[in-house]
Amino acid sequence: MIALEGSDGAGKTTQAHLLGEYLSAKGIACVSVREPGGTDLGEAIRNLVLDPAHPEIDPVAELFLFAAARAQLVREVIRPALASGQVVLVERYAHSTVAYQGYGAGIDLGVVDLVNRWATGGIVPDLTIVLDADPATLKSRRGHLVDDRIEQRGLAFQRRVREGYWACAAGDPDRVSLIDATRDEFAVHRDIVARVDTTLADPSATRARS
Ligand code: TYD
Repeated sequence: MIALEGSDGAGKTTQAHLLGEYLSAKGIACVSVREPGGTDLGEAIRNLVLDPAHPEIDPVAELFLFAAARAQLVREVIRPALASGQVVLVERYAHSTVAYQGYGAGIDLGVVDLVNRWATGGIVPDLTIVLDADPATLKSRRGHLVDDRIEQRGLAFQRRVREGYWACAAGDPDRVSLIDATRDEFAVHRDIVARVDTTLADPSATRARS
C-alpha cells in the first residue's frame, strides 16, 4: 500500500495519476482511492468537511468525520483490495490527520494516534510519499482557485501542517519519504517511482499488515 500526502495544492492528484499509470504499465493490479472519499459515506463526508458553508465544524468533530470516512474506506475498499493481492494507492491517509488535526488544529497527538489506529484497523502504508513545499509557493501556484473550508485557514495553519509532515518523516524515515514538490511534475514522478520500486521489491510490501 502506498500513500501520497502533502499540503493543499502540492500536486498529489497529478502524481497519483502518473503513478497509477506507471504501475498499470508494469502489469501491477492497483486500486486508486482518495481521502476523504472513495465510498458513498466517504464522499458524503468529503462534501460536508470541505464545504465553506460549514465554518462551525469543531476540530474534534472534524477529527471524527475524517476518521469515519477512513474507517469505511479501509473496511469497504482497502482491506479487501490488499487481501486480493492488489496494490492500493491512496491520496491522503492517517498522516493527513496527524498533520492537519494534530499539528494544524492542535489536537493532542496521542488522541490523534489512537483515533487513527481505530479507523485504520492497524493497516499502515508500506510507503508514504509526502510532497513537500512551502505553502506560500503552493498558494501562488494555485492562483485564484476558490479555497475550500480547510484551505481558508491560511498560511500559518498550512505551515504547521508542513511541520507535521516533517515530524512524521523524521519519526519513521524508512516508511515516510519527503519529496521536493516544487520541481516539474516529471522530476517529482521520477523520484516517486524510484522509492516505489524499492518498496515493491520488498516481498513483505503491499500485503495487509496489522
Ligand atoms: P483534497 O482535495 O484531498 O486536498 P488537496 O486540496 O490537497 O487536493 O482535500 C482534502 C482536505 O482535507 C485537505 O485540505 C486536507 C484535509 N484533510 C484533513 O484535514 N484531515 C484528514 O485526515 C484528511 C484525509 C484530509
